[in-house]
Amino acid sequence: MDKNRILIIGSGYVGLTVGIALASFGNHVIIHDKDEYKLDLLQKGNFPIYEPLLSEMFESNKSNIVFMHDISRAIKESHILFITVGTELVDGNLSLTNFYEAIASLEKHLEPGKIVVIKSTVPVGTTDNVRERLQKIYGKEIIVAVNPEFLREGNAVNDFLYPERIIIGVEHEEESIPLLQLYSKIDAPKLVVDFKTAEMIKYTSNVFLATKISFINEIANLCDLFGIDVTKVAEGVGLDRRIGKDFLKAGIGFGGSCLPKDLMTLIKISENVGYNPTLLKSVKEINEGQVRRFVYKVISVLGQGRGILGVWGLSFKGGTDDVRFSPSIEIVKMLNSNGFRVNVYDPKAIENGKKVLGNSVDFYYDPIETVKNTDALLVLTDWPEFLEVDLSKVAEVMNKRYLFDARNIFDPMQVRQHGFSYFGVGRKNV
Ligand code: UDX
Repeated sequence: MDKNRILIIGSGYVGLTVGIALASFGNHVIIHDKDEYKLDLLQKGNFPIYEPLLSEMFESNKSNIVFMHDISRAIKESHILFITVGTELVDGNLSLTNFYEAIASLEKHLEPGKIVVIKSTVPVGTTDNVRERLQKIYGKEIIVAVNPEFLREGNAVNDFLYPERIIIGVEHEEESIPLLQLYSKIDAPKLVVDFKTAEMIKYTSNVFLATKISFINEIANLCDLFGIDVTKVAEGVGLDRRIGKDFLKAGIGFGGSCLPKDLMTLIKISENVGYNPTLLKSVKEINEGQVRRFVYKVISVLGQGRGILGVWGLSFKGGTDDVRFSPSIEIVKMLNSNGFRVNVYDPKAIENGKKVLGNSVDFYYDPIETVKNTDALLVLTDWPEFLEVDLSKVAEVMNKRYLFDARNIFDPMQVRQHGFSYFGVGRKNV
């Protein structure tokens, strides 16, 4: 059988993961990005993002992968074309500029017989619009599909290879066959639906996860007042399989490039069709409140602007270098503007952190150095390696011993044994 000739338009987390993984199945993959510099880096094997397993998988499959800047040639040389460009929030609104730029290239260079697959998360109704535009030029021989991606940063390769489900949205059921064949090596339920349903499944999944997090954060805020430990409450309710234990970690709220953006977009598109999504708005409000509450807690313990703070963690969650919509970054900014001097450390996100925090804080490359002579340690991201740092060493070099655990990763009693006062989220202060 001939290898599939695949094009990936957009080399972010999703595009690179999908492209390299499909190459590992033996397909011939062209990866295009409008950023020439990024493509050059990739060509040399330098990954502009940190994603576990990705560069290793690239090394073992690079004979199947070509990075190509020339979009017209890239389109001509491929048969299945994936759109994986990023979309972003601009002033609270979803901008589809990059997405429609990619569609404009297809309008110029496509040929009948090709399959266009949308993986970027797009508002309900977008795929219909793309199909109309492309079929108007090239006729019914162009197949358009929407195939949302559910991979998580930091776990992207495994999530792509071992997904919980594959969703394929098409106009006519038989148009899903090429994609079902492409994914035949992946053992997961495959659901073929229409465009709008596929688009809505993606939004519903992400917004449901966001809702679960805001829900447990609201409970955490109550636990704070009742003097109960929310991690125990979450453990107890999570044992009920109807609820499930995942996404019940209370903290400073969800960030990243997907959950906040998809929530905002679903709110906006609901309002556009005349519906007031009160639950979704509360999810957003609770999320924004978590950052403020945490800052307030620090100020109420230490006093406004009093002291030097050591921060561990800038990325929006452990396992990634991504700082987009990171609650940790928000907190650092707020503490800074409240007069605190802040030292920061992150295992992978220092460079990205520098781009957004500039010289407003001091950056460190070692967790212990970060907290030397500080008055409080703030753990803002759930990096597993933070649990391996010797707390007795931390205690030794600090000026005062306050530990604010924004992700509830430490055992309060153990922390206490090292002489710290411990403050979690929705946990008794000890
Ligand atoms: C998310 C979806 O999980 C994924 O399916 C989709 O394809 C892209 O968006 P990602 O943004 O990589 O993935 O991060 P995720 O692991 O979902 O975490 C999102 C945010 O929620 C992070 O800031 C994380 O720290 C926070 N979170 C997660 C919590 O605060 N509590 C939890 O229990 C889980």
